[in-house]
Amino acid sequence: MKGKIRWNLNWYFCEGFDRDRVERASVEGMEPIHLPHQVRTLTYNCFSHDETQMISTYARKFSLSGEEAARRTVVEFDGVMTYFDLYVNGRLVGSHKGGYSRSRFEISSYVRAGGNTLYLMVDSNERGDIPPFGCVIDYLTFGGVYRDVNLYSLEDTFLTDVLFRYDMTGEDTAEVYPEFYVDNGGGAFTGEIACTVADREGRELACFRQTVSVESGRRSITLDRRKVGGIVRWDPENPQMYVVRAVLTREGRELDAIEDDIGFRTMECRASGMYVNGRRIVLVGMDRHQSYPYVGYSIGRRAQRADADLLRQYGMNTVRTSHYMQSQYFLDRCDEIGLMVFEEIPGWQHIGGEDFKQVVMEDVRSMIVTDFNHPGIFIWGVRLNESADDDELYTRTNALAHELDPSRATGGVRYLTNSHLLEDVYTMNDFCHAGGGGSGASSGGGKDLKQVLRYQQEVTGLPYKVPYLVTEYMGHTYPVKPFDNESLRDEHARRHAEILARSLMKTDSLGAIGWCAFDYNTHGDYGAGDKICYHGIFDMFRIPKYAAYVYRTQKSPEEEILMIPATGFARGEKALYGVMPFLVLTNCDYIEVFMYGKSLGCFFPSDKFFGLPHPPIEVDVDVDALWNAVWQDGKIVGYLDGRPVAEYCFLRDPHLDGFAVVQDDTLISSSEVDTARFEVSFVDQLGHPCVFYNGVIEVETEGDVEVIGPRFLAPVGGRVAFWVKSIPTGKDGTATVRVKAPALEYPPQEFTLHLRKD
Ligand code: GAL
Repeated sequence: MKGKIRWNLNWYFCEGFDRDRVERASVEGMEPIHLPHQVRTLTYNCFSHDETQMISTYARKFSLSGEEAARRTVVEFDGVMTYFDLYVNGRLVGSHKGGYSRSRFEISSYVRAGGNTLYLMVDSNERGDIPPFGCVIDYLTFGGVYRDVNLYSLEDTFLTDVLFRYDMTGEDTAEVYPEFYVDNGGGAFTGEIACTVADREGRELACFRQTVSVESGRRSITLDRRKVGGIVRWDPENPQMYVVRAVLTREGRELDAIEDDIGFRTMECRASGMYVNGRRIVLVGMDRHQSYPYVGYSIGRRAQRADADLLRQYGMNTVRTSHYMQSQYFLDRCDEIGLMVFEEIPGWQHIGGEDFKQVVMEDVRSMIVTDFNHPGIFIWGVRLNESADDDELYTRTNALAHELDPSRATGGVRYLTNSHLLEDVYTMNDFCHAGGGGSGASSGGGKDLKQVLRYQQEVTGLPYKVPYLVTEYMGHTYPVKPFDNESLRDEHARRHAEILARSLMKTDSLGAIGWCAFDYNTHGDYGAGDKICYHGIFDMFRIPKYAAYVYRTQKSPEEEILMIPATGFARGEKALYGVMPFLVLTNCDYIEVFMYGKSLGCFFPSDKFFGLPHPPIEVDVDVDALWNAVWQDGKIVGYLDGRPVAEYCFLRDPHLDGFAVVQDDTLISSSEVDTARFEVSFVDQLGHPCVFYNGVIEVETEGDVEVIGPRFLAPVGGRVAFWVKSIPTGKDGTATVRVKAPALEYPPQEFTLHLRKD
């Protein structure tokens, strides 16, 4: 559908819904807002999980010229949590169930030339007729119009979707047979679809056209198969993207055009592993919830993309969009950087009644039609996460997924053993690892290493091997806060390392995806009692815990050299006195440790983590017996090929010596609500975070930007991040962000943000 207008600006919002207001076309007393939007901003934690459960009203005024009013008008909602009724000019157009699926409404017969008003009655209550609700769930779903809204002005006939189907026939050749969904509001006619495939620099790979019969109503048209050569395949290491553009014409007149990003690759889930373009890849990834502090799901393009970048930077090749369809911006970025995606329908353990199941089926359809072209997606999750077997329902979800997309495997995430395998891949949440392998003080150090990951046939109960994937590990079995006792943070890293090592060595699985990327807001039924599940390898602000470096240090030192001691070098922090044992997460060959003014010798990768390309190094020598000796400055030196390449120093008397601020972006849009992230660390004289410092920072802004959430922020584990958002003016300009540490002597730090109209 061409002629898309991004329709995120100039909305009105209020709590509650009054049908009279709709009749009167009034926005009186409503708050002017821009999208994305959440019905209520939350505190960082300790809120009630009911606060965003409400009925609310969103309104937008718009005017159409006579010409526009004569065309077909479609409004598209990328994500509204959880249910809405749409009214245009006082009349009910339709409704939509489900907070994660895209919906479109034709409003042509409701609009008129001149002024129009559109209302949404949004119900963000956890309604039992809509997945994932009906019982408890371990995450918050927030509420509001939290993704983009788009408006289209169209001819009588338009293309709603393209599913770019193809089969690879050779190394660089494919047979393509794109399918188009066409909406023809007039009579049948003979038209033509012209299609080009080009790379992002515009170099054409293919160009073909075909005469097509366009029947009246909503139809699908699949073009004849044709060969395309000269393809560079999409691969996680080289994610080559192409752009497909198709134009529908009638007697030479263009009716509509559609464009999407695609990539060519094969992906096979076999019992012996995951094969991309015939090459085995062990999946290493994290589950991702799409929530952020204060504003839940309601954050736009830049932050969504940044999450994908962060996961890739930390060594992941896979992400699971637990437990629902996620932002187009996130998925687009995954494609661009070679992050493979397990996408799934919304659900959490509970299966509801008939109405609920109808939404489940619609979710499957919506997920696949909306996201079909993403080359990064390798599997569709067509079970409600961790639900019981329901052969009737899951036979239907699988059949629908296979009908819409025979090219991709299905999975269905379970924690049950011996569950009925109706999908192509047995996808299992394996939380069996209970520690005991490491010598972290809390792991019951010295115990024999327990089972780390289960054998697939022990799980499936099948007499033969099947494609098998671990879709969650760790999570609730070992939650860790950024400011927890060091032993917990150390053990968290150890367990991740043990599981990753085991997964990389397994020959009976596609790999393993860990629970989870980021800490997330949840219900009182779960989490730490403050409405946060501290299961992430990053906190909610996207600040890494030690465990995140387990993954990042698996990268080749040619990419980056890393040496991160998983300790603050404090003698009284661990449950046992002294700093030993500690881990150094590194991709160096070995390290040398200097403490108490002398070298303790060289230390090498620990075989407790055998299987990792770069196992953590464990330092455990008996120097702490010197309990009455003066603690001294020290250092660690990392070596590669015998040469010192990394150095980490620590002090006997580390003390607060300032704060450091890192600004992620300097240029943001003023044509929409764009964001920039700032990360603040309270640091010692050497720049290391003072993990237990609990002062505050204050953020001030000047110009057309504002802070998301509170202006006063307390660090969490010595660090905190905040996002500022642009106030859309459609003008070029600059804004200032000033970070202060009230009550401390340090001078404020100022940052410039350039605002640019698109
Ligand atoms: C799983 C569930 C996740 C999360 C996780 C915590 O059972 O699928 O959503 O709750 O546990 O470890």
